[in-house]
Amino acid sequence: MIVAPSLLAADFTHLADDIAMIGRSRAQWVHCDVMDGVFVPNISFGFPVIKAISRITDLPLDVHLMIVQPERYISEVRDCGAMMMNVHYEACTHLHRTIQAIHSAGMKAGVTLNPSTPVAMLQDVIEDVDMVLLMGVNPGFGGQKFIQHTLRKISELKALIEATGSKALIEIDGGINAVTGAAAAAAGADILVAGNAVFSAPDPLAEIETLAAL
Ligand code: DX5
Ligand code: ZN
Repeated sequence: MIVAPSLLAADFTHLADDIAMIGRSRAQWVHCDVMDGVFVPNISFGFPVIKAISRITDLPLDVHLMIVQPERYISEVRDCGAMMMNVHYEACTHLHRTIQAIHSAGMKAGVTLNPSTPVAMLQDVIEDVDMVLLMGVNPGFGGQKFIQHTLRKISELKALIEATGSKALIEIDGGINAVTGAAAAAAGADILVAGNAVFSAPDPLAEIETLAAL
């Protein structure tokens, strides 16, 4: 299992230490949550912070934009050194065009679905995306409880991917811990994002190890 610790739950006064810990762990990606206070009712951190993070890690950056009109920031995200740019389905009027533009900028393109958005909405873009990020909580905050119907959506997404021959990976974000992560893995998830489960754990390295072994 690919594990992507979410820096939203890291200690911002010692970010370099937390990133060094991730570097020593079995985590393979670093998940960066950008919030604008409009698409979601919270504000997190932005491009200068992600750029600084890119200078101190070689791990791929998985950037999750919880912002309106994410297509306005494609070159900024690229300049941050992002490997994956995730945009929300609900925030993109011209999603197909935005996916093409992300690819033209040299990044992988991910599309994120809120808990209330059906997987079927992806039918006409599934062959164009590199990843689908299914939210296990309503976006905006860490530390929330996993919404169980996400498991059914993972199965539906897996079926859509197999039916179309898409190469899209399935990432789950929100409320992931060893228990919900195991259920997501069994349903077909490829990548688990974990914020509080990792950074609030007494031993974050061991927690990442547990998730990576799923
Ligand atoms: C929520 C963010 C998540 C968040 C996950 O809006 O997209 O990445 O950091 O936090 P946990 O794992 O604590 O639910
Ligand atoms: Zn996220």
